[in-house]
Amino acid sequence: MARAKILAPKGVSEYVPPRSRLFEFVRESLIAPARLAGYQLMELPVFEDTELFKRGVGESTDVVSKEMYTFTDRGDRSITLRPEGTAGAMRAVIEHGLDRAQLPVKIWYSGAYFRAERPQAGRYRQFYQVGIEAIGLDDPAIDAEVIAVADAGFKAIGLKRYRLEITSLGDAQSRAAHKVDLMKFISTLDLDEATSLRASINPLRLFDDKRDEMKLLMSKAPILMDYLSVTSRTHFESVKTYLDALGISYILNPRMVRGLDYYTGTTFEFVHELLGSQSGIGGGGRYDGLMHELGGQELSGIGFGLGVDRALLAAEAEGVITQERFVSDLFIIPLGDSAMIRALEIATDLRKVGKSVEIAFGDRGLKGAMKAADKSGARYVVVLGDEEMTSSVLQLKNMSSGIAISVTIASLADAL
Ligand code: HAM
Repeated sequence: MARAKILAPKGVSEYVPPRSRLFEFVRESLIAPARLAGYQLMELPVFEDTELFKRGVGESTDVVSKEMYTFTDRGDRSITLRPEGTAGAMRAVIEHGLDRAQLPVKIWYSGAYFRAERPQAGRYRQFYQVGIEAIGLDDPAIDAEVIAVADAGFKAIGLKRYRLEITSLGDAQSRAAHKVDLMKFISTLDLDEATSLRASINPLRLFDDKRDEMKLLMSKAPILMDYLSVTSRTHFESVKTYLDALGISYILNPRMVRGLDYYTGTTFEFVHELLGSQSGIGGGGRYDGLMHELGGQELSGIGFGLGVDRALLAAEAEGVITQERFVSDLFIIPLGDSAMIRALEIATDLRKVGKSVEIAFGDRGLKGAMKAADKSGARYVVVLGDEEMTSSVLQLKNMSSGIAISVTIASLADAL
């Protein structure tokens, strides 16, 4: 009797062929601009001490209060699967003393993140991010560069229908001034217990309440943008000037609330038009108190996290990437044993010069092999029989036009 199948846990995103090729392309497109800007890889554990996220991300956030995968390990330690990358990156910067060297510390990372959210299209319990962090300098030009690196990633995928929203959450002084008036305003509202508790931990969180009645109430609340200190305002003006100079357009969204508590100063989100409710394809900002909160020195930082899953959905929605881009250059059909040896040699040589080559395995006859070639989508096909082996001349067939040309084995790479 057949055994019952075991399925993936609910709500995880996973990528298998052929779609995994598109995923790979999207992830690589998002990483490449960071490398070009001098960011260096950090490969970190997917689980950390739970305290890291409680302190780093903030207990008032949904991410920490409702969505963490937390468990006790065999040594009775509280462990959490990382819900985001910044806290772990900062932990590693402090632990390895990277902040004692040249500043800014510029790192990138890519991997799986875990949030126990209600699964839906574009919202998963295991999802993928590419992120960067630039730690140690307040220079507004870094804010602009970080945003530009994210934007370049989305452009490299070919995305067009997204917008960039930016705001400033100000420095401690700005937020303190705003908090006084915001708390005054909140005290006039009739809130349920859970909401009051969140407000007492971080009143800004109420701007992020998804309920319509709360949205209406909060539409009259004082906004932080009106309380920016001179330093914060000047910094933000410079960021905008740099973005203008780079030709990166943006929309000011003073009501933006990010789902993580560490943000200060410049804060931003990339929103895609075609993704419905899960439209945030990336976001980030400054986090001037985080390093100190995690036991390090008082250094500022800024970074982003881009959603690889959502960027892929966006690319598919825009129709900008298709499988045709990722097919092999050549499919070789060897007829017989000695032809197989030759085919393996040719394939090895061509791969050395960067051509992608597949071989028809399994001795399925010419007809079966042609079918396999067709299915693979390869651009060109050659048949390698006795005649071709003797003459060293092949018929290189273009699979989309059906036209074949004669080429010698030695000139195959050039012909491709
Ligand atoms: P975040 O906005 O929470 O920021 O996540 C960044 C991106 O990850 C989102 O814009 C979204 O595309 C994707 N994402 C988040 N949750 C899910 C989910 N459940 N399913 C699919 N995609 C998701 C951060 O995580 C910060 N660490 C970014 C950052 C870095 N800020 C400063 N440095």
